[in-house]
Amino acid sequence: MAPAGQGSGRRAAIVTGAASGIGEAISRRFVKEGIDVLSVDLRPGPDTPGVPFAADLTTREGNKAAVEAAVERFGRLDIIVPNAGFQHVAPIPEFDEDRWDALLAILLTSPFLLTKYGWQHLVDSGAGRVCVIASAHALSASPFKSGYISGKHGVLGLVKTIALEGADCGIRANAICPGYVRTPLVQAQIADQAKAHGMTEDRVVSEVMLVRQPVKQMVELDDLAEMAVFLTGPNSNSLTGMSVSMDMGWSAL
Ligand SMILES: NC(=O)c1ccc[n+]([C@@H]2O[C@H](COP(=O)([O-])OP(=O)(O)OC[C@H]3O[C@@H](n4cnc5c(N)ncnc54)[C@H](O)[C@@H]3O)[C@@H](O)[C@H]2O)c1
Repeated sequence: MAPAGQGSGRRAAIVTGAASGIGEAISRRFVKEGIDVLSVDLRPGPDTPGVPFAADLTTREGNKAAVEAAVERFGRLDIIVPNAGFQHVAPIPEFDEDRWDALLAILLTSPFLLTKYGWQHLVDSGAGRVCVIASAHALSASPFKSGYISGKHGVLGLVKTIALEGADCGIRANAICPGYVRTPLVQAQIADQAKAHGMTEDRVVSEVMLVRQPVKQMVELDDLAEMAVFLTGPNSNSLTGMSVSMDMGWSAL
């Protein structure tokens, strides 16, 4: 297929974890923006925006199938938003080793594989964009989240490497590092944290979760989706290898 060329035609994106929370909000916003979106998730539902595609992104086959499906369906691939993830909360001595493997597979290896398999299409785009949804926990740690924090810290290294290797071919790679966003993932964490800390769920929110956010609010999905539109759009050409903290001041402490 002939290179699409910078800025020409309708852009095409892969958004992972698109059946819920942040990924769903970004997919919905991209569709509104006129971007073709392959919305990848384990089990996309009838409300999943864009073109739903089922894949297990902890596997090589799942990541390869997602890239192939996007290119087959849209004829191009300009944007990859690796967002799928989950959390596992346990002290290190009790941390389940299969959960550790799965966390690194989804948070670190999937973004690598999607970029690797999609690389030539991003080059052909002339304005390829990778926008990883990382976390405030990509920049600092909290107890009982060793797998998640290791995966998130690692993916910032990947983002910087993509930025360097893609610099001369129009590829720009950045990460968004949100503080707490009220999504199903966070709702589940409140219960897990309550167990790990031996506290009530209300106390976990006020004394554990938001304690490190000077602004005592969760991040809004619409604000995140707007940032993803900017970081994957034509006006972000000068931004690469960086992470944008949307964390209510967490990283200012
Ligand atoms: N919610 C927050 O407060 C918050 C804060 C910082 C970062 N994040 C990050 O944002 C991303 C999205 O989080 P969310 O809160 O929207 O979570 P969510 O649980 O609402 O959505 C995550 C989605 O990922 C999908 N997924 C999980 N494993 C998968 C797999 N193996 N293959 C395919 N899809 C899979 C799930 O099915 C789910 O639909 C995650 O990477 C998370 O770490 C979330």
